[in-house]
Amino acid sequence: MKIGIIGAGKVGTTLGMYLRQRKDAMAEIVGFYSKNVETAKETAEFVGTDYFEKLEDLVALSDTLFVTTPDGEIAKVWDCMRQLAAESKIDLNQKLICHFSGSLSSDVFVSIEHFGAIACSLHPIYAFSNKFSAYKQFHKVNFTMEGNEKAVETMKTFFESLGHGVCLLKKEDKAKYHGAMSMVSNHMLALLQTAVDTLGQCGFTRKQAYESLETIVTENIKSGFRFGAVEALTGPIERNDVETVEKHLKVLEPQTAVIYKELAKVLISMSKEKNPKRDYETMEKRIDNMK
Ligand SMILES: NC(=O)c1ccc[n+]([C@@H]2O[C@H](COP(=O)([O-])OP(=O)(O)OC[C@H]3O[C@@H](n4cnc5c(N)ncnc54)[C@H](OP(=O)(O)O)[C@@H]3O)[C@@H](O)[C@H]2O)c1
Repeated sequence: MKIGIIGAGKVGTTLGMYLRQRKDAMAEIVGFYSKNVETAKETAEFVGTDYFEKLEDLVALSDTLFVTTPDGEIAKVWDCMRQLAAESKIDLNQKLICHFSGSLSSDVFVSIEHFGAIACSLHPIYAFSNKFSAYKQFHKVNFTMEGNEKAVETMKTFFESLGHGVCLLKKEDKAKYHGAMSMVSNHMLALLQTAVDTLGQCGFTRKQAYESLETIVTENIKSGFRFGAVEALTGPIERNDVETVEKHLKVLEPQTAVIYKELAKVLISMSKEKNPKRDYETMEKRIDNMK
């Protein structure tokens, strides 16, 4: 597989560097093209490969193209490729084209079949915060994939051969899937911030708040992964301690109370599953009736 990478940012650089380093990967990184030639050059130097000033030169040398631009640019890159193909400046026949957006499907490559190419979307389930170091952790990353059957099969086989887990998605489920991923990655941090702010109202410094929360949060998450969220659940809702929950709702800031109440509804259904003989009806009613 000869891979050309379009978009020399965090994901493109990480994939390029990671695959270059994996000697067992049956792939060659042809090089990088980016909006800004300086970015492509800097990345190519880092990865130890070529950079291209013209998209058509990279396309000509690659059989597989990874489009790793921001989501809003993927369709523009595809439009540009279609235009170049229509002008016979590139030949897309037999090319495999992938993007890496979690929320967009492969439909963004409109009419790709007319050019004899195939496409899929691959989503690496990871937060790439550093362009030059994320490759060191990339071996742990799982993927979801969606798109043309042959394209998905090729990419699934390729990444599975390197030890990555792969789940296949239907294109109509991509937005819902990405919503779940965003919640567990971003909203989880919002919950952490809310707890830090609330502890601040109780006199904790930021440092004290983070130090106090670290063990309980990380151990709880570990238990959730080890035993499942329902089995790991503890606390006043699971114990059916209605008075404590009422006290919480009386003193929490209004916005925090809204978050507490909405998540409490999920906690009640988890508690019912964990303790099928326990009656949570009073808890449910009180939470519903609290402002
Ligand atoms: N970051 C994450 O944690 C993460 C996780 C999973 C999936 N993804 C997905 O991966 C993709 C890339 O994200 P990213 O975080 O790597 O973004 P990024 O760091 O912002 O990098 C995007 C790169 O694309 C280049 N670019 C922009 N427009 C272009 C165009 N029209 N043609 C060619 N190159 C162009 C930019 O290059 P210049 O510097 O040259 O302007 C930039 O370096 C997105 O689809 C994103 O949803 C990201």
